[in-house]
Amino acid sequence: MPINERLFDRISQKRDILNSLRPFDMGALRRLKASFDVEFTYNSNAIEGNTLSLSETRMVLEDGITAGGKTLNEHLEATNHRSAIEFVESLVGKREITEMDVLNLHAMILDRIDPHNAGFYRRHRVRISGTNFTPPKPSLIPDMIQKLYEMLNATGGEPIQRAAMIHMEFVNIHPFIDGNGRCARLLMNLYLMRSGLVPVIIQNRDRKRYIDHIVASQTRGDHMPFINFVARCLDRSLTIYIDSLGEEDEDHITLAEASKKCRYSQEYLSLLARKGRIDAVKFGRIWTISGKVLEDYVRERDGGN
Ligand SMILES: Nc1ncnc2c1ncn2[C@@H]1O[C@H](COP(=O)(O)OP(=O)(O)OP(=O)(O)O)[C@@H](O)[C@H]1O
Ligand SMILES: [Mg+2]
Repeated sequence: MPINERLFDRISQKRDILNSLRPFDMGALRRLKASFDVEFTYNSNAIEGNTLSLSETRMVLEDGITAGGKTLNEHLEATNHRSAIEFVESLVGKREITEMDVLNLHAMILDRIDPHNAGFYRRHRVRISGTNFTPPKPSLIPDMIQKLYEMLNATGGEPIQRAAMIHMEFVNIHPFIDGNGRCARLLMNLYLMRSGLVPVIIQNRDRKRYIDHIVASQTRGDHMPFINFVARCLDRSLTIYIDSLGEEDEDHITLAEASKKCRYSQEYLSLLARKGRIDAVKFGRIWTISGKVLEDYVRERDGGN
């Protein structure tokens, strides 16, 4: 089992809690989806180099207002990504995911941005700047990508690991001239959702870590750091879903506030949070923790004394 045991148990518990909240309150679900889609779109596009901020992305997607000084393509990337999310959602209940589904997904990502390449595998060699990794030559893509379609339709096994490996396989083949990262992140979410889980957001602030894990997989063949990274993203998503769809609002407090309620310093709590030893969630730049999680942790550490 490559996933950190503590993290894996926490994810399983949260999945059970989330499932116990079904059927979800439709109004709460709609509000959650609106903000989740904005956050996903902002982060996925920012990783790729789009300069729209989170609030500009929200403005473009929710109010249809253009952001001053930003290019037409940056706006199209935002609206295209939202359409791509909706398309992925329409595939969740489909019996089999086909090559045409993936080509259509890519066509949506580059719609009106690069019509010549949207929905077509690349016809040229590519190099990934800043790394030694060279994806396969174009003539190898049609064969290599078959494995990806098999992975997308495979059932059984551990879904988080499988979803992460779909992402990894996809970016290694790098089937398109551009938009591979965005497509990979959407397909990973498609697999998670088809497995009854929730989508993840790879945050732009984690861009370096994200790329480092991909490179480590490529150079050392060690996929575990990337799989655990995806698992941590899933843990965060589950918390967001439970907080939004649960009946009572969780009382999230900052680690600075938490340190006043126990004998641990803010720095120590922050270390525990980064290491995944306590169930803290990062909102913006700030780590937060629910009062109950803190209480449970302190009780466990202090052995009831
Ligand atoms: N060695 C590597 N170094 C950096 N990125 C890599 C590497 N191998 C694969 N990748 C993947 O390639 C993606 C970039 O590919 P591409 O530019 O086609 O996608 P994009 O959607 O336009 O951009 P991005 O993925 O940056 O959002 C990265 O996000 C990452 O997922
Ligand atoms: Mg790109």
